[in-house]
Amino acid sequence: MTFHHPRATPVRRRTPEQGALLEAAEVFIRRFAAEEPGAADPRRRLAEVAAEVAVSGTYEHTPAELAYGARVAWRNSARCIGRLYWNNLTVRDLRHLSHPDDIAAHCFEHLRIATNNGRIRPVISVFAPDRPGRPAPRLLGEQLVRYADDPRSAERTALARQLGWKGGYGAFEVLPLMVQTAPGRRPEMYEVPEDAVLEVPLTHPRYPGIAALGLRWYAVPAVSDMSLEIGGITYPAAPFNGWYMGTEIGSRNLGDTDRYNLLPVIAALLGLDTRSERTLWRDQALVELNLAVLHSFEQAGVTMADHHTESTRFLTHIERESRHGRRVPTDWSWIVPPLSGSATAVFHRYYDPPDPDLRPAFLHREPSPEPPGVCPYHP
Ligand code: ARG
Repeated sequence: MTFHHPRATPVRRRTPEQGALLEAAEVFIRRFAAEEPGAADPRRRLAEVAAEVAVSGTYEHTPAELAYGARVAWRNSARCIGRLYWNNLTVRDLRHLSHPDDIAAHCFEHLRIATNNGRIRPVISVFAPDRPGRPAPRLLGEQLVRYADDPRSAERTALARQLGWKGGYGAFEVLPLMVQTAPGRRPEMYEVPEDAVLEVPLTHPRYPGIAALGLRWYAVPAVSDMSLEIGGITYPAAPFNGWYMGTEIGSRNLGDTDRYNLLPVIAALLGLDTRSERTLWRDQALVELNLAVLHSFEQAGVTMADHHTESTRFLTHIERESRHGRRVPTDWSWIVPPLSGSATAVFHRYYDPPDPDLRPAFLHREPSPEPPGVCPYHP
């Protein structure tokens, strides 16, 4: 007599990747349940996640997990002085999008939502995550808006030209958005629509010569070259923005010698004696340039923080976090502003050290390996 065994479900062996993913998921789900009042029972949710991982090798965050994860990634950013408002991040759940046309269109929509007529809103747009063996598209630029003549963008400008972009020979031209759908693939390129980019022309309350230089900067710093990592899932296309602190533009972008290097120009305009360092012409030029940036954004009605106010807010943030029993990992060298450091409140103390393993986090992406001659892209 033949004897039919009921079909046994095969015992799937967990791959090391799945094990690591589940471990990361567990830490995240437990943290989420502990911090979010409305969260489901973490044991039930973790069983669900484990089942999903066993079948597909990955799992999907709920919208609430995604929003919480993105906000905590901001909270965990040791280099960010603006973290007081981490819980006010607008999270756009665009995980269903992976076509480059859709990604580009929604990056431009991101800029419009964030700009909000000058009342800048912190926003993150989260596109499709990486899946096992199937990396998701990424944005090749450092930010959604960058200028082609900024020395920091030299390689991206070269890449855009290689892809056929005809612009980028004038001052302050916005680079096209470049979306790469797979490693080694030729990126798709999109001109950023004018109505998506608010810019502020620089003027000075006392030196009209500064306006005559024709300087400008854009309103929304939207970082696009970092991955968002939550509970073991990587979102490589997840551009995010806050508002500017004046020194980022006035000291670093316009002042650094390997950026726009404008201190000698400003000094000449102010008639400063640049023959000796001891006249502190650089310092004076820096102050006036920073003043011009703050003044211009104010005049244009565009949100911008000054470094003194933002320093005080950061210390408020630390206090508030400690009331919740949380440490604030902090990189002193990034937090102290690049102007009058010791005159700001954040200079004079020590902080909880950054923890490279802390998650959720924004992480710098590894450069994707490109076949020679196709796309000479190194961030
Ligand atoms: N420092 C960068 C820049 O000058 C922007 C980094 C993010 N800054 C911010 N305020 N959220 O463009």
